[in-house]
Amino acid sequence: MATQLCNIIITRTSQCNLLEISKLHASLFGPGRFVRAAYRVRESVTHVSPFCHIAKCDGIVIASISFTKICIGNKPGALMLGPLAVNSSYAGFGIGRNLIQTSLNLARSAEINLVTLVGDLAYYKSVGFAVAPKQQILLPGPFDYSRVLICELRQGASLDYKGMIRPV
Ligand SMILES: CC(C)(COP(=O)(O)OP(=O)(O)OC[C@H]1O[C@@H](n2cnc3c(N)ncnc32)[C@H](O)[C@@H]1OP(=O)(O)O)[C@@H](O)C(=O)NCCC(=O)NCCS
Repeated sequence: MATQLCNIIITRTSQCNLLEISKLHASLFGPGRFVRAAYRVRESVTHVSPFCHIAKCDGIVIASISFTKICIGNKPGALMLGPLAVNSSYAGFGIGRNLIQTSLNLARSAEINLVTLVGDLAYYKSVGFAVAPKQQILLPGPFDYSRVLICELRQGASLDYKGMIRPV
């Protein structure tokens, strides 16, 4: 189903969007994106899951949000959010938050328990994320504990998740 915001349309990501998404990531994150611990989690899996969405304006991809199905410790039922990318010409219009909310609503109805990400609390707290307790969630590479955020989609779910993130 598509959501329309003025002339911006949010839809699920499909394989044919991957090239445009990759160009958007390159322009916003540069080559440094490849060395991040979060990248190592998702490098071996497809960028298209049922929770991934894009925003298009006049047929061009101007924003995207991706999710990777993960286990934390050995427990499945969690997602890692990222990257979230909004073309800087469209920043500040609520597109990022809209993409997050659209995807989280879908994840909740798919009985996903927990979503985690590595990012700025200042941005993500308004959509329900908080800093994970230190050392509860580990990534395969160097990372800053204060940037590991979680959002419970089932109350109390974070108590069930402890350990290394790996893709499913
Ligand atoms: C960060 C980003 C996703 C925000 O998307 P967006 O569509 O512009 O955000 P929204 O319109 O939903 O929200 C805008 C609000 O978030 C704030 N904001 C944006 N980036 C922020 C950050 N890093 N920290 C804190 N607040 C931030 C804005 O100041 C604005 O605040 P306001 O509502 O009080 O005016 C986008 O700017 C982007 O892609 N940046 C580069 C890539 C990146 O950093 N991605 C996130 C990490 S994966």
